[in-house]
Amino acid sequence: MADKQAKLTVAGSEHELPVLQGSCGPDVVDIRKLYGKTGMFTYDPGYKATASCESALTYIDGEEGVLLHRGYPIGQLAENSSFMEVAYLLLNGELPKSDELDTFTHTITRHTMLHEQLIQFYRGFRRDAHPMAIMCGVVGALSAFYHDSTDISDPEHRKISSHRLIAKMPTIAAMAFKYSVGQPFLYPDNSLSYTANFLRMTFGVPAESYEVHPAVERALDRIFILHADHEQNASTSTVRLAGSSGANPFACIAAGIACLWGPAHGGANEAALNMLREIGTPDRIPHYIERAKDKNDPFRLMGFGHRVYKNYDPRAAVMQKTVREVFDALNVTDPVFEVALQLEEMALQDDYFAEKKLFPNVDFYSGVILSAIGFPTTMFTALFALARTVGWVAQWNEMISDPGQVIGRPRQLYVGPTERDYLPLDKR
Ligand code: SDX
Repeated sequence: MADKQAKLTVAGSEHELPVLQGSCGPDVVDIRKLYGKTGMFTYDPGYKATASCESALTYIDGEEGVLLHRGYPIGQLAENSSFMEVAYLLLNGELPKSDELDTFTHTITRHTMLHEQLIQFYRGFRRDAHPMAIMCGVVGALSAFYHDSTDISDPEHRKISSHRLIAKMPTIAAMAFKYSVGQPFLYPDNSLSYTANFLRMTFGVPAESYEVHPAVERALDRIFILHADHEQNASTSTVRLAGSSGANPFACIAAGIACLWGPAHGGANEAALNMLREIGTPDRIPHYIERAKDKNDPFRLMGFGHRVYKNYDPRAAVMQKTVREVFDALNVTDPVFEVALQLEEMALQDDYFAEKKLFPNVDFYSGVILSAIGFPTTMFTALFALARTVGWVAQWNEMISDPGQVIGRPRQLYVGPTERDYLPLDKR
């Protein structure tokens, strides 16, 4: 709704633009008629000040470090909920009653198997292929197998393809890991929870039974919750843009996986642990902090800084607490945790990071936990993609079911040559 107006004066003419208000967060200036009124575009590379859509899924207050999913604070969900329950919440808007959660979980569980022919896709990859390369390929290939659920105008098709994507990501990710280590694939075990099933498919072998450690299952389920959705981040915006053309959901999620892989986005968890290992010992931290501050050095503190959070990422706080829980449960430790704690402390005391409001983000501690559980760093972003599929699917559904939805097509500020005539070769 617009009961306020913004005034814009262009070339001596004054124009009024509606100001729209959400339920919380910044108001927006509705510029949909700006070009028609002024012949001008807005200019916002990286969309730092641009709202691309209306959404009711996730609210972030970057200044205060607040993250809500359908109004529920991430700290409360991480403490009290489960990944399946958060998935239901994001998809349906309300926390499920007991029977609703049971039905949803049962439905997801019964979609965890892959088409047997899809499994052949793995044979085509090199054994040392990065799991994210495999995830991009195999998830995109799902659209070659599920023609019965790609009519996006049919709510039932949207529902079953959403369930299939959420259900099959753990199987696809676990198989990517198994393929990389030359071990046989394990099929899903429907008697296990979503997260326990994934742990067994990843670390179990056919030669013996695999017991899931309850504390590890709880920690990983909480990590999935922390990664489920995050407003209009780069990969979610990629999914929305791909979906706006009417592409099938499997292709849209494959596009999201490709975008998430980047080290500035979901690839930062792998890069952050590699950085902590490269630093190695606390005495080397000052050198790396100086490098991160040096404009001539491309090195950045991975897992630090955020486009929206100019305060502590609330997910990082939960992640740090979870490190201690997993270390205690497994009776392990890792010197990189001490490096991470001291690096955070030194950076937050440094004017450079304070002035630029750079804090640890969700990726800073996650790798320490995943490594303690036994995942190789190459699997970290695949786990991020596994969890974020819930958010991508929920955001895609919200976009597709919006009657006002149109194909996304940004414009540009053109700085190339103006019109000129072709020069024959002998005249150049
Ligand atoms: C995720 O959008 C989301 O919600 C993403 C995510 C999600 O859940 O989907 O939260 C997941 O992607 C978390 C972010 C993971 N990426 C990293 O940890 C990589 C390291 N961080 C940076 O690359 C950076 O902080 C970004 C990309 C995350 C944010 O960059 P911005 O908002 O574009 O900010 P910027 O690059 O303009 O930086 C502002 C200033 C710059 O200095 P000046 O040009 O103003 O002098 O801060 C500096 C930057 O050089 N800076 C850093 C830094 N991050 C920013 N300096 C050192 N180390 C860093 N990590």
